[in-house]
Amino acid sequence: MVKMVVNVVGLGYIGLPTALMFAAHGMNVVGTDYDRDLVATLKSGITTFEEDGLNELFNDALSKGIVFSTEYIETDVYIVAVPSPYDKFSKKIDASYVTAAVKSVIEVCPKGATLVIESTVSPGTIDKFVRPIIEAQGLKIGQDIHLVHAPERIIPGNMVYELKHNSRTIGADDKIVGEKIKALYSLFCQGDIVVTDIRHAEMTKVVENTYRDINIAFANELAKICRSDNLDVYEIIRIANMHPRVNILQPGPGVGGHCISVDPWFLVGDYPGLANIILAARKINDSMPEFVLGRVCEIMKERNLTDLTRVGLYGLTYKENVDDVRESPTLQLLESMERHLAPRLKVYDPLVKRELVEHQYYDFDKFLADVDLVVIMVSHNEIKDQMDKLNRKVILDTKNIRGLEGAYTL
Ligand SMILES: NC(=O)c1ccc[n+]([C@@H]2O[C@H](COP(=O)([O-])OP(=O)(O)OC[C@H]3O[C@@H](n4cnc5c(N)ncnc54)[C@H](O)[C@@H]3O)[C@@H](O)[C@H]2O)c1
Repeated sequence: MVKMVVNVVGLGYIGLPTALMFAAHGMNVVGTDYDRDLVATLKSGITTFEEDGLNELFNDALSKGIVFSTEYIETDVYIVAVPSPYDKFSKKIDASYVTAAVKSVIEVCPKGATLVIESTVSPGTIDKFVRPIIEAQGLKIGQDIHLVHAPERIIPGNMVYELKHNSRTIGADDKIVGEKIKALYSLFCQGDIVVTDIRHAEMTKVVENTYRDINIAFANELAKICRSDNLDVYEIIRIANMHPRVNILQPGPGVGGHCISVDPWFLVGDYPGLANIILAARKINDSMPEFVLGRVCEIMKERNLTDLTRVGLYGLTYKENVDDVRESPTLQLLESMERHLAPRLKVYDPLVKRELVEHQYYDFDKFLADVDLVVIMVSHNEIKDQMDKLNRKVILDTKNIRGLEGAYTL
């Protein structure tokens, strides 16, 4: 029997592990990305980002014959995992990456092929942007080409495990096509796979990330309230969570990443006047980097520190133990300082090796030698394992790492 070939389009944080997973589980896979350098790196046998278990999966997929290319191929199934940012002014989705990828696919795809959009899209995007492109080519959806939306739920830091174990959603126009794609993902996905229609799949994915954003915003708002009244927010959350039906998350320096800080905006942009809690939550989470700056100011006054250039931010990524810096609270904080024409703070992140900002350090000890006040923005394992090095520093611990005696918190 001839094995089906899957063409995964977009080999970033989502597309690469997905392509590798299909290949490792017996599919013929061609991974396509228009970034020549990225494809060259993968072809040379090197992964393009760090992730638990990714190298092993990569080697397994290589041994099973995965191919990387800048070309789109003629095949039966395409999985599109390209970026889907939002427009900063309208708050609506910028669907241009998705539509460009779809255009490239329909130039090469044979009749009857299935086009799976894995990228997160705002509700109605496939109707508004994808169907018209296909129909403009004279192709009949449901006959010449089948459309499916299969959004992804994995979390950076635990992607390989979650690809296998999370449940997932498949949205399809046609139940039979939906079941076919469900069978395909079942090759590696051991979680439940729910088949629904495309619009419900689109909305569900965005709702999931919005739910997380709102819950984080509640914790952040509590942190501000407690700070204003000299109460310990962590103690309050700890006790409140002993209630059998309460589960408050932890506050932090803001929300970053490509999902939680982006997807709720789609609802704000598409449902103005209706998405009220969602908008408020976005504003609260976006205000946290400035709130951290305010805390830095208060602490400097209290400790008679006057030199802002001897304040150091620990962590540039948007969460612990990953190298992804997109929309990170530290970058948001630095942008805010730039807007206020304030001097740049010193920054260090053990997982970010390329220069992203001014005064960036690559060595923990050198960084510590040049700062008096350390603001912990990300709780990487590195700092948790070396707490003793912080003994002589003033510390603002926005992540409330346990065991930091005398540290200031949010
Ligand atoms: N990163 C996450 O944690 C995460 C989680 C769930 C869902 N998602 C969603 O998955 C999608 C992809 O996100 P990501 O984090 O993998 O993005 P990414 O930026 O890491 O990767 C996207 C890749 O697509 C490539 N690309 C863009 N347009 C292309 C085209 N026309 N043809 C070929 N290649 C193209 C880019 O070069 C890049 O390598 C987004 O919609 C995102 O919202 C991301």
